[in-house]
Amino acid sequence: PFDGRSMTPPMGWSSWNKFAEDIDDATVRAMADALVETGLRDAGYIYVNIDDGWQGERAADGSIQPNDKFPDMKALADYVHARGLKLGLYSSQGPKTCAGYEGSYGHVEQDAETFAEWGIDYLKYDLCSGEWFYDTRDTVLRSYYEMGKAIRETGRPMLYSICEYGRFDVGNWGRQVGGHLWRTTGDIVDEWPVMEDIGFNRNPKKPEYSGPGGWNDPDMLEIGNGGMSHEEYQTHMTLWAMSAAPLILGHDLRETSDDALALLTNREVIAIDQDARGEQGVPLRKDSQQEVWTKPLSDGSTAVALFNRGTAAARMAVRPEDIEAETIQGARNLWTHSDLTGKDLSFTVPAHGSVMLRVW
Ligand code: DGJ
Repeated sequence: PFDGRSMTPPMGWSSWNKFAEDIDDATVRAMADALVETGLRDAGYIYVNIDDGWQGERAADGSIQPNDKFPDMKALADYVHARGLKLGLYSSQGPKTCAGYEGSYGHVEQDAETFAEWGIDYLKYDLCSGEWFYDTRDTVLRSYYEMGKAIRETGRPMLYSICEYGRFDVGNWGRQVGGHLWRTTGDIVDEWPVMEDIGFNRNPKKPEYSGPGGWNDPDMLEIGNGGMSHEEYQTHMTLWAMSAAPLILGHDLRETSDDALALLTNREVIAIDQDARGEQGVPLRKDSQQEVWTKPLSDGSTAVALFNRGTAAARMAVRPEDIEAETIQGARNLWTHSDLTGKDLSFTVPAHGSVMLRVW
């Protein structure tokens, strides 16, 4: 059901990539503070999402309680909201989550109501345990439908993040079950080969499913975690922005380097991700390890990215036909913030690097 939310890809932070289960109330508060202090909030990153590991046991009435690391979820939501941010939470439809915590099985409506009472604004719903019911399209689809309906019926606006790794052609039904974003792949890892495979090979398969209200989700960002080079992280950000991907930060925000901050807060790059037309960019032409991607934008210009997946620098150029035009009238380099004049739009793109342009 279309509810007018997530008209552009969601932006925020999630605990999983950096902290996994090692997450607690104080750390989440520190992340909220850091989003404000670094300027990341003002660049658009407004969701603070607690992933797996917050759950405790159920009370006598069956309601879910946080574990000892989260003494008061409502107070935490208040703290996050007071900073102009929104709070996200996680569950899974099986009896247990992927990390072995209490899942929502048999308590779907009750959990949705609890989340609404706490003031939750975003729910990521995973697919773990309960092997007997997640093996078929019907049972998976139904489980996502049931939680989507339950959170709608609470009356509290929440974004609904579907996390079943792209199974059963999720983009084809993600919106119908109330989803605002759906993972298209397995988990990202802070390593070039995994990021590259997700971003270049796996997520681009069904761009037609993505658009205002519902987005293909190639998983959270690893920028800032240290496992990739500057060029590789720039490619990660360029690729996610070209793909109109949700931008969910995945590092310890208190340790954001100047380099990571510059990659994550480049307003011109974020504007490509957040463009109102909401089209997922696609590879237009490939030449061995070089790829030229385009993404049509709402103002009639086109975002063009030059990617070099190879291990040596490569010369790459933009051609008028890339933007279906006879001539290129103007171009802007979005990473260097410079207007490009003249007709020669050729660049030396470093190994694993990228150039990102807006072209008229
Ligand atoms: C699998 C998901 O893909 C991850 O993003 C994370 O949510 C873990 N489960 C948590 O157990």
